[in-house]
Amino acid sequence: MTNNTARCLITGGNGFQGYHLTKSLLTLGYSVRCLDRYKPGWKLQEKVEFIEGDFSATHLIADAIKGCDLIFHLACTTLPQTSNEDPDFDVSSNVLGTIRMLNEAVKANVKRFIFISSGGTVYGIPSVIPIPENHPTNPTCSYGITKLTIEKYLRLYFQMHGLNTCSIRLSNPYGEYQRVDSIQGVIAAFCHKAITGQQINIWGDGRVKRDFIYISDVMDAFIKLIDAPVSGCEINIGSGSALSLNEIVGYIEQVTGKNVDRNYSKARAFDVPISELDISFAREKLQWEPKISVYDGIDRTIKWMKSLE
Ligand SMILES: NC(=O)c1ccc[n+]([C@@H]2O[C@H](COP(=O)([O-])OP(=O)(O)OC[C@H]3O[C@@H](n4cnc5c(N)ncnc54)[C@H](O)[C@@H]3O)[C@@H](O)[C@H]2O)c1
Repeated sequence: MTNNTARCLITGGNGFQGYHLTKSLLTLGYSVRCLDRYKPGWKLQEKVEFIEGDFSATHLIADAIKGCDLIFHLACTTLPQTSNEDPDFDVSSNVLGTIRMLNEAVKANVKRFIFISSGGTVYGIPSVIPIPENHPTNPTCSYGITKLTIEKYLRLYFQMHGLNTCSIRLSNPYGEYQRVDSIQGVIAAFCHKAITGQQINIWGDGRVKRDFIYISDVMDAFIKLIDAPVSGCEINIGSGSALSLNEIVGYIEQVTGKNVDRNYSKARAFDVPISELDISFAREKLQWEPKISVYDGIDRTIKWMKSLE
């Protein structure tokens, strides 16, 4: 499908990953249509067809999918940190909305449907490190349960209708254009706070470890997955290694040359102690390898942030 004629719909196209995916697909010659609640402010917007609205709105989604060969479903209404406050909203907006999209994708004969799930939340507390795709799934937050449920529907639609689905269990992406004021995305937030001399808040003792993956490596994997023989299943995409939050802050201090004021507060119940994904399935099926170390990635992110000053 990697050719000059395919049309791709990206839900959540105005977000961090949506921006990078739009750019990557346009570079490859795809036509891109974005559906998002908010209109993009970035320059690429002149090159994409934009539909403003909610992905769960049936009338809107039918029009958005019309004529598309490929769908990347990135939009998500909740975050791990807040999803437990209102599981009703989490399930009704994300699960029902995605089922409506799957129905329209079947009707429109879409060739590939890729959903961005979450490698950091679907497994829960790991019993083995690194975590392979067949590890038990016991999420500690509603967001993880919702992602898992949607994965199951993608499998079902593959079995029932032959819709060519795949769910990406993504670890923790970071890099340029990530929001610095969100509660998701610690590297962007920590870098920004270090540069601007603000205090960093860390829940727990900072020893929780996360698998951080630089955005260009994420995009390489997304693009390779379009044509890869991986259907009706889930695939881990991460760096395959993990660093603690304290190690991340320590490195940011080293690069910026500033000591950061850290505030440690009570650990959150849903934060698993470690998340490190086994990426052998992705390596084998996508012939893909993450290229940017977390140190290089942080250097690039800081350089980009400083260029905005
Ligand atoms: N950022 C992470 O750490 C991370 C990790 C694993 C998985 N994910 C998943 O990756 C996907 C993309 O996340 P991101 O990092 O680009 O986040 P983001 O917040 O930057 O982008 C999400 C976009 O979705 C849009 N959106 C939200 N609800 C919508 C709705 N109902 N209808 C239309 N648009 C809607 C938002 O306006 C936003 O532009 C999400 O599904 C997220 O759950 C993110």
